[in-house]
Amino acid sequence: MPSNRTFTMIKPDAVENGYIGAILTKIIASGFRIVSMKMTQLSQRDAELFYAIHKERSFFNDLVSFMTRGPIVAAILEKENAVDDFRTLIGATNPKEAADGTLRKQFASSVGENAVHGSDSNENAEIEGAFHFSGREIF
Ligand code: RTP
Ligand code: MG
Repeated sequence: MPSNRTFTMIKPDAVENGYIGAILTKIIASGFRIVSMKMTQLSQRDAELFYAIHKERSFFNDLVSFMTRGPIVAAILEKENAVDDFRTLIGATNPKEAADGTLRKQFASSVGENAVHGSDSNENAEIEGAFHFSGREIF
């Protein structure tokens, strides 16, 4: 994936709360183009693989059970400086620490259930995008 792209998921809490439209509107208004998008649900194995980097952390089981409990919206987004600008748009992991105007400030309820994922590097954006989308789903 080119370095002007990132990968996001609207997490199960935000889907349950009916925030898909509001979150996508804000993402688009912030200058991101949707390159790929789908509604899907992670299996246990998908979530364990996707968050494998956190497998030794105390919150890992809670994270996997949260991320598999309902549908998500997965998307690849494009913008200059996409990874960093999207991390800025979503805000801190803990919504209590997220800046005003960020997605997590507006839509997240807790550090565990924080509404939106954003890739943390170009390398991970590439890996995560390829995890969810085949070549013919990437525009
Ligand atoms: P993400 O990967 O989902 O974009 O979130 P992040 O980079 O801001 O945070 P990260 O450290 O990668 O953690 C991944 C996800 O694990 C859950 N978490 N729970 N209970 C806790 O202390 C805790 N810490 C992290 C969150 O869902 C977090 O987004
Ligand atoms: Mg992360």
